Amino acid sequence: MPGFPTSSRPAQRPAADFREAVARLAGGVALLTTLDPIGRDCGLTVTAVSSVSLDPPLALVCVKKDGFVHDALFVADGWSLSMLADDQVELARYGARSRAPGDRDDFTGWPTRRAVHGELVLTSGVAALECEPYDWLDAGDHTIALGRVVRATTDAGDRAALIHVDRRYARPGDVLG
Ligand SMILES: Cc1cc2nc3c(=O)[nH]c(=O)nc-3n(C[C@H](O)[C@H](O)[C@H](O)COP(=O)(O)O)c2cc1C
Repeated sequence: MPGFPTSSRPAQRPAADFREAVARLAGGVALLTTLDPIGRDCGLTVTAVSSVSLDPPLALVCVKKDGFVHDALFVADGWSLSMLADDQVELARYGARSRAPGDRDDFTGWPTRRAVHGELVLTSGVAALECEPYDWLDAGDHTIALGRVVRATTDAGDRAALIHVDRRYARPGDVLG
């Protein structure tokens, strides 16, 4: 059809086209942290995060079922989202690395504190949400973990948030409105 935009044609390769499309959605980068059943720290880089409700205060994160922290999340008393700053690309890469069975996380190189339920919070980010498990939703190859926010903090500094868009880390650009 003349003038029909190529990008609007029905998907021939739905999964690949879906991945390509959502790569263009800029997202704030967070480190999801919790404790595993024997109290070891674990953290995963995530962008599938959203605030959900103010009353009660709820936030969600989508976690891959075969991913590193997934099973620990189900049994933990709490989990936190540390929203990373634009000088924390190295930390984001560390939290996103592939793990072999038995691999451990070690966040001792970064400034941290303990959350209400004991998991790590990265204190050098721009903000953090400490959550208690509230509900779970099965969502294909992911689980949507809904958490009740028990403490929310913002960093007093003036650093920008770290974002991820077009498969690259970036900082927000010009303010447009
Ligand atoms: C920028 C970025 C955002 C990500 N967001 C999520 C996410 O929201 N949920 C998730 O389960 N994994 C997410 N991941 C993937 C994990 O951080 C990690 O890379 C992946 O689980 C590595 O394990 P694998 O290679 O063994 O699958 C993200 C990775 C990157 C680099």
